[in-house]
Amino acid sequence: MATLADLYREIALCRDCELAECRNMVVPGEGAEDAAIMFIGEAPGFHEDQQGRPFVGAAGQFLDNLLHSIGLDRSKVYICNIIKCRPPGNRDPLPREVDACRRWLERQIELIDPRMIVTLGRHSMSRYFPGASISKVHGTARNLDGRICFAMYHPAAALHQQSLRRTIEADMLKIPGLLAQAADTKPAPEPRQLSMF
Ligand code: URA
Repeated sequence: MATLADLYREIALCRDCELAECRNMVVPGEGAEDAAIMFIGEAPGFHEDQQGRPFVGAAGQFLDNLLHSIGLDRSKVYICNIIKCRPPGNRDPLPREVDACRRWLERQIELIDPRMIVTLGRHSMSRYFPGASISKVHGTARNLDGRICFAMYHPAAALHQQSLRRTIEADMLKIPGLLAQAADTKPAPEPRQLSMF
């Protein structure tokens, strides 16, 4: 069975779209291989492209604070993006780039098998909430193939629009309850035989 490290080696060699020509580093993602929560952002920016790590700029600092607000840090979750290479000038990913990168994200989901996917921003939202608008769907969850999908604004939105900061913070606080609810609805384990001593 392939590991995340195997997958990262494959992604580093990817030349499936034109972003391979202008990237400095691929940014596959990082975090726990057995994470219950997977955060999916949009695309690497300047700093991510320099370091090969997701969310290391200002938006990443806010994401770290949001994780801390629910008692988590990067080592306990998984963080990646819908595309693994930086679009020039930080433009939006093109549909053909998202399509070319789809297989990598699918394999990450398969390997990590998270109970919950949290979409950060409209690009990843549109995959799990097709046709929805982020202003309506943020802070709500749906069940997809046995996983909870939860939509949030992109953390960078709070940097551009202060009024969204509280909304994003409040949405983050819903995550632990949703996860706990999902655990409750899992089929109960077989009753165990009590051992006599
Ligand atoms: N924004 C994203 O969507 N992803 C990153 O990795 C950094 C900024």
